[in-house]
Amino acid sequence: MKVSVSILSSVLKGQDIVKKLDKSNADYIHIDVMDGKFVENKTWMFSEIKKISSYSHLPLDVHLMVENPKKYIEDYALLNTNDIIFHYEAVKNINDMINYIKGYGLKVGIAINPDTDVNVLFPFLKDLDLVLVMSVFPGASGQLFIEGTLKRIQMLKEEILRQNVKTIISVDGGINDETALLCKDAGVNVLVSASYIHKDIINNIDILKNM
Ligand code: DX5
Ligand code: ZN
Repeated sequence: MKVSVSILSSVLKGQDIVKKLDKSNADYIHIDVMDGKFVENKTWMFSEIKKISSYSHLPLDVHLMVENPKKYIEDYALLNTNDIIFHYEAVKNINDMINYIKGYGLKVGIAINPDTDVNVLFPFLKDLDLVLVMSVFPGASGQLFIEGTLKRIQMLKEEILRQNVKTIISVDGGINDETALLCKDAGVNVLVSASYIHKDIINNIDILKNM
C-alpha cells in the first residue's frame, strides 16, 4: 500500500516534520491547499511549501481545495510534484483542467466530496491518473471516517475494472489502522493520513504501508 502523509495537522514545524518524513517509508507528502473560499480554512503559503519541499526527497501529492485551481498549478509544477488533484465540485470544464495539468508533465487527479455521486467521474476515468475519494468533508484534519465511503470506493473500483483503465484510488480523511484495512479491501491503492500518522510517525507509516 502506498502512503501519502498530510502535514496539515502536524505539531512539528515545516522543516522538522519533513526531515522526519524523509527518514520514514512514506511515499508522498500530501499538501492540502485551501483558499478560504472552496473550504472555510486557509493553509500554506506557496513560499512555505517551496521551502518545506526543498528539505525532502519525497514527491508532493498536491490536493487543491480551491475555487480556482488554475491559479496554483504553475507554481506547484515547479516543485518535486508527483500529481495535482483538483475538486470535481470546483471546476466547470473538467477536460480542460485535466489537459492543463497534463501539459505540465504532471499526473492528474480529481477529488470528490462525500456528497457527490462517484459516477459523475466515470466519463473521465480513462484520462485520470487518480481519483481522491474524500472520506470526510474537506477542510480539516481529525474528522471521523464516513462509513458510506466504502461503498463509493467499491463502485469506483468496479467501474475502473470494467473500463480496463489504470486509474488508481486514493482515500483522504479519518484514515487509521482500522479504516485503512476496510479501504484496502474495497480497492484503495493510496492512503492519505494526517492525525493518525502524527501520533507516532515512523511506526504508523509502517503499519499503513504493510497493509
Ligand atoms: C481534509 C484534508 C486531509 C486531512 C486528513 O480536508 O484533505 O488531507 O489532512 O487528515 P486526517 O487524516 O486527520 O483525517
Ligand atoms: Zn487532503
